[in-house]
Amino acid sequence: MSKSLAASHSQGKHEPDNIFGVNAAANEKAKIVGKENIVNASIGAFLDPQGELITLPTVEKTMYSLDFKDAANYAPIAGLPDFIKAAIDVTFGEHKPDAYINGVATPGGSGGIHHAIWNYTEVGDTFLTSDWFWSPYQTMAKEMGRKIDTFTSFSEKGNFNVRACLGKVAELAKVQKNVLLIINSPAHNPTGFSLTDEEWEQVIAGLKELIEKGQNNIILFVDIAYLDFAPPGSRKFFKLFSQLPASFLVIVAFSMSKGYTMYGYRTGCMIGISSDKDIIDEFFNINQYSNRGTWSNGTRSGMQCLVKLWKNPELMDQVNKEREEFRLSLENRARTFLDEAKEVGLEVCPYHSGFFITVPTSKPDEIGLKLQDDNIFIVPLGRGLRIAVCAIPAEKLSGMATKIKEAKDLLGG
Ligand SMILES: Cc1ncc(COP(=O)(O)O)c(C=O)c1O
Repeated sequence: MSKSLAASHSQGKHEPDNIFGVNAAANEKAKIVGKENIVNASIGAFLDPQGELITLPTVEKTMYSLDFKDAANYAPIAGLPDFIKAAIDVTFGEHKPDAYINGVATPGGSGGIHHAIWNYTEVGDTFLTSDWFWSPYQTMAKEMGRKIDTFTSFSEKGNFNVRACLGKVAELAKVQKNVLLIINSPAHNPTGFSLTDEEWEQVIAGLKELIEKGQNNIILFVDIAYLDFAPPGSRKFFKLFSQLPASFLVIVAFSMSKGYTMYGYRTGCMIGISSDKDIIDEFFNINQYSNRGTWSNGTRSGMQCLVKLWKNPELMDQVNKEREEFRLSLENRARTFLDEAKEVGLEVCPYHSGFFITVPTSKPDEIGLKLQDDNIFIVPLGRGLRIAVCAIPAEKLSGMATKIKEAKDLLGG
């Protein structure tokens, strides 16, 4: 074994960065064949046809309009009060749940996921999510001495597998008082799946039924990282979080990373929803405390930017219009890939909206490597290939499903 000075819980911590590796391979190949001949489907950010980051012009202008002396200052530990109000407002829109609601600013949605795991499960506990999931959930579980368990994401018909989800919750509830369930919807990463309002109703009803037995607390964490790239009407399900039992806490993670193209500004807000004021006061206190105990305060300029937009409806309108244009272009990209996939008989995970489409396969690494011969660079996941349609213009997406199908047929899996 190599030498180590690390504490026992930190020894061996290491994670190969798949995305970085594939991106580096794409850049190397571009030096040989030219950037224009490369399809780099590895980057999880919205890029223009030249491969540059797309940003929302009104967000950019608003950031530049901030007074630097003010923006450079510390923010309050829990976040600027107006930022919390704005985050709650833009998250729920017209569908604000009828409940006590408060928020704590976090560095992106990641900060909220961290605090939810830390503050609502015991050391050694397990938390749940679907079997297709954003891999940092696993990293965070390990980092905090927790375990992750999963349920089958999809039914045979390609719907959300409500039964598998509730079954796993019931199983865990037998051995653990607090059950933390993370659901990433709408526009799930990596599949692009979204729960329908009916599926949300069924999940909530099942969780309420379990709570009525009086043995458990449910913490439902809704990861809405890609909410703003789901079609209009995707916020209705928030109303279902109204007047839930006191031992049922919902946490929604607002993030400015994708919706406001402010990825690196690390600005988000974890929003707690409960029918019980004590539970929400506790939510605010313990998560504010965890801010102090980890990264201290968040990025003041990011918070100020949202506040400035929120206080000026014209500006916010402009942002929403600009984003809608990008969303439609994303929809067009996804449609290009999906139509061709259907035509050539390439299986994909159920996709509704969002940055990624996933092709399930038992040989992701082999197929990923083979595709590099065709100048196509895709990130292999444990059980599939994640195609970042957000990073590729529609022209370059055309032909890609055919190539993937050919590689799959050749290598099997
Ligand atoms: C599913 C999912 N959740 C949460 C996040 C968190 O992002 P951020 O911390 O930048 O808000 C991401 C980012 O890629 C994501 O894909």
